[in-house]
Amino acid sequence: MRIAFISDIHGSFTALEAVLNDIKKQKVDQIICLGDTVSLGPQPREVLDALHEIKSINIKGNHDGAILEPEKAAQYEITEHLIPDLYWGRDRLSKADFDFMNSFVETHSLTFPNGIQLLAFHGSPLSTTHLIQATTDSALLDAYFANQTASVLIGGHSHIQMQRRYGEKLILNSGSVGNAFVFAFSPGNPPRLLPWAEYAILEQVGSSFSVDLRRVYFDIPKFVKVVKESDLPGKEWWVRQYYGSF
Ligand SMILES: [Fe+2]
Repeated sequence: MRIAFISDIHGSFTALEAVLNDIKKQKVDQIICLGDTVSLGPQPREVLDALHEIKSINIKGNHDGAILEPEKAAQYEITEHLIPDLYWGRDRLSKADFDFMNSFVETHSLTFPNGIQLLAFHGSPLSTTHLIQATTDSALLDAYFANQTASVLIGGHSHIQMQRRYGEKLILNSGSVGNAFVFAFSPGNPPRLLPWAEYAILEQVGSSFSVDLRRVYFDIPKFVKVVKESDLPGKEWWVRQYYGSF
C-alpha cells in the first residue's frame, strides 16, 4: 500500500499541480491532504477543484479553520498582517467551496495491511496550531500523543519535512507544497521560502515499511506571473521570496 501525503498548499496551485504530476507517476493508492489548503496564495479555487478531483482525504488545518471562521483568526494563530490575504482568499470561494471545506476532518486513522497503525493530523492530534518539530520537547510529545495506539504519526503545519523516531513511534512531517520554509517560523523571525514543493509517500509492502520525503521543482516564473497579475494583498511578499525584489 502506498499513500501520498500533501500539506500546506496555501493557495499555490502551480506547486500543487507539479506535485500531483509527480504523484501520478508514483502510482499511489490514496492521497491524504494534511491541511492549510487555500489561504495566502493566489489560486484558492484551483486548489480546491484539484483536491475535489483527486478525491483526497482532507484534514482541516488552522488556516482552513480561519477561512471558515475568520472572526476566530487569532485563535487559529493567524498573524495580524495576513488577515487581508485571508479575506482575499475567502472572497474567491463559492458556497460549494465552503461546503467542501466544512467536510474536512480533524484527524484520519488508517491501518496498513501488515497492521501498522497511522494517525494523520495538521498540528497535533489535539490541535491544528500545535507545532511539532525535530527539537520539540519530549514532555510535549508525550502530551500530544498520550493514549495514541498509532505508531506512525504524520502532520503538517511546520512547513518543514521531518522524520523523527520517538521511542516506538515514528513522527513525520510531509513538508509544505506551496510554502516550504528555509527555517522554522518563530515570532520576529519571518519565514523565507524554498524554491520547491515538498510532500511524502509512505509505503508498506510485505515486511518493509518506508518513508519517502520528496521534493518537486515547480515552474516559479509561471507562479510569479499569476501572483503579479492578481490583486492579492500579499503579492509583493510572494515575489520577493523567489526573486528577492518585487
Ligand atoms: Fe501552513
